[in-house]
Amino acid sequence: MADKITFGKHRYDKMIYRRCGRSGLQLPAISLGLWHNFGGVDDFQTAKKIIFKAFDLGITHFDLANNYGPPPGSAEINFGKILSKELKSYRDELIISTKAGYFMWDGPYGEWGSKKYLVASLEQSLKRMKLDYVDIFYHHRPDPQTPLEETMGTLDLIVRQGKALYVGISNYDAEKTREAYSVLKNLGTTLLIHQPKYNMLNRWVELDLLSTLWDLGVGCISFSPLAQGILTDRYFNGIPKDSRAAKKHGFLKKEEVTDKLVSMVKELAKIAERRGQTVSQLALAWNLRYKVMTSVLIGASSVKQLVENVGTLNNLELDENELEQINNVLKG
Ligand SMILES: NC(=O)c1ccc[n+]([C@@H]2O[C@H](COP(=O)([O-])OP(=O)(O)OC[C@H]3O[C@@H](n4cnc5c(N)ncnc54)[C@H](OP(=O)(O)O)[C@@H]3O)[C@@H](O)[C@H]2O)c1
Repeated sequence: MADKITFGKHRYDKMIYRRCGRSGLQLPAISLGLWHNFGGVDDFQTAKKIIFKAFDLGITHFDLANNYGPPPGSAEINFGKILSKELKSYRDELIISTKAGYFMWDGPYGEWGSKKYLVASLEQSLKRMKLDYVDIFYHHRPDPQTPLEETMGTLDLIVRQGKALYVGISNYDAEKTREAYSVLKNLGTTLLIHQPKYNMLNRWVELDLLSTLWDLGVGCISFSPLAQGILTDRYFNGIPKDSRAAKKHGFLKKEEVTDKLVSMVKELAKIAERRGQTVSQLALAWNLRYKVMTSVLIGASSVKQLVENVGTLNNLELDENELEQINNVLKG
């Protein structure tokens, strides 16, 4: 028997939901990603608490990929355990995404963008999560070798098979995004969403991707909006033992947390303080300042971090003066 758990009756009242491009789908302004902290190496009880708290705060969208862990696949297995038990009766209140594109298994069919790989990978993801379908299936990174017609044709097929309701792309530049959009459109499927990296330290999307998405009516969900923790107070007093930068399997390397960056983030924290916010809240509000930004996709290793991040929504407005102060700090 599933152990049904009860969530707050008013969980949808405070969360802000934004329309994803020109689609019918709304996403929470803050979504939770399971890249780190939800794998086989992590504490399952903590992972569960973070997921329950997220849902209780109105976060309806959880983002995964075939390779999240470590070991690869274990984040989907853990999420599947929770979905098939405590969250079972809430499936229709959840938007669950997964992806394929990066290395997952040996041989020529275990990564990139062939039909063979994408179909097999989604089958595996559905089994791991004990689901019949995902809400969004992404091609995780562009494949320079496979014709876009094959990759997008496979996304279209997956939608027609009912294995995903919507499809998205991640890490595609503006030009490839336009091409992917039109291949899909010609097949009769709309590209729902793009998932690029975007934060105060990496602003590549501002050049032409965001305007392209706006033109096309495609939604945007930015990943690593806190630069994996650098844009928070996490590293203000050195590198904590339990932080991503200290973990062997963490994608953030100690060398990336430089004194110069930490000093810059301390300056940003002063701007945040004048707004009654923490620096992570300022970084998220800054990320959400564009209308085209449907959602920011955060990570969290504790309930406390999650709650702090959702607190961003109490003050999203940034005036010209504040934006200029932020730009000046970022210029260094
Ligand atoms: N499409 C892609 O190619 C791609 C690539 C990367 C990520 N993603 C997606 O984006 C999601 C988020 O990425 P991310 O985890 O790098 O996002 P992030 O929000 O930039 O970083 C999350 C990390 O920042 C720290 N943190 C978060 N809130 C904090 C707070 N309030 N105070 C102090 N520290 C805080 C935590 O680090 P500690 O663990 O040190 O506590 C947390 O694990 C992923 O889970 C995944 O779904 C997609």
